[in-house]
Amino acid sequence: MQLTRKGLWSGIIREFRDFLPEISENAITTLLEGNTPLVEVENLKDIFGDLRLLLKYEGLNPTGSFKDRGMTMAVSKAREEGAEAIICASTGNTSAAAAAYAAKAGMKAYVLVPDGGIALGKLSQAMMHGAMVLQIKGNFDDALNIVKAITKDYPVKMVNSINPYRIEGQKTGAFEVCEHLGYAPTYHFLPVGNAGNITAYWKGYNQYYREDIISNLPKMMGFQAEGAAPIVLGHPVDDPHTLATAIKIGNPASWEGALKAKSESGGVIDMVSDEEIIEAYKLLASREGVFCEPASAASLAGAIKMKKEGVLIDGDTVVCTLTGHGLKDPDNAMNSSPKPVKVPADVKKILSVMGF
Ligand code: F0G
Repeated sequence: MQLTRKGLWSGIIREFRDFLPEISENAITTLLEGNTPLVEVENLKDIFGDLRLLLKYEGLNPTGSFKDRGMTMAVSKAREEGAEAIICASTGNTSAAAAAYAAKAGMKAYVLVPDGGIALGKLSQAMMHGAMVLQIKGNFDDALNIVKAITKDYPVKMVNSINPYRIEGQKTGAFEVCEHLGYAPTYHFLPVGNAGNITAYWKGYNQYYREDIISNLPKMMGFQAEGAAPIVLGHPVDDPHTLATAIKIGNPASWEGALKAKSESGGVIDMVSDEEIIEAYKLLASREGVFCEPASAASLAGAIKMKKEGVLIDGDTVVCTLTGHGLKDPDNAMNSSPKPVKVPADVKKILSVMGF
């Protein structure tokens, strides 16, 4: 008997080869990233009424975030060019993805992260995959400046989203949304940190539009955290703060890309408070069964805000990208939930606590 192998996913480079820069077959480094679900929201009608809301659940990528899409491209290209080491600055997820893909490619990874400023799950990933983890006394913006200085003079390949191959890989998120829906949504909401992902999605939608695969373009809706909202304020923020550490960035590298996505699509770059982020984070977990990390929930928090302001209306199709998995950040999850009930190992006592 023969097994049918039809439909097996081969990672974004092979699946979207016609829409990506060429990479030689033997340099392709993949953990079979992509093909993440577009989950239909069913239980938030009290907030959203009759619009169609979907969650692009990027936490289900191999290292638990959308960064894998860009990292498979950046690392494969680096490998093709003969690089032996890669380096990045990170608020956590990029470092986890860089470490994993470097391991797969047999390369050395150096990751610079703000000391104490990244979620536990992400740090543990970078460590387990064997990266050299350099915790700096400074924030993400300081780390990125150091990485830029090092890569100018030393043979280490930068895999932050300034590397154009990262953007190329990440644009496949937009392709998948179109493939799933059969068209582009009315609105696409994303959290914005270093602004690479909103730049990438807009590039992806435009490419499918030019190729006549879709006949509409979404309005791009980027949301920063209130304490780290340089694009909204129109100037860099020296000391960004937010509990959504993934997007705690004061001077985004792809600032221009985000502004372009906003203005060309007729969208917005706006901000939400940490309270709004946590409220959306809890709603998704408790009412939709979807666990994302706090930064990811900035997209849904943005959608809630836009619904309240009357921007979103019944009949719209709205996609929110949930950029990273909730397990990345156990500390924020524990702090946002009721504590477990400690009970004796006794049926009667347990039943009484259960309310029977
Ligand atoms: N959501 C998560 C979970 C992220 O990790 C990031 C960025 C973003 C949203 C924002 O995406 O930077 O493309 O606008 N994390 C980077 C990192 C900065 O180092 O992991 P962006």
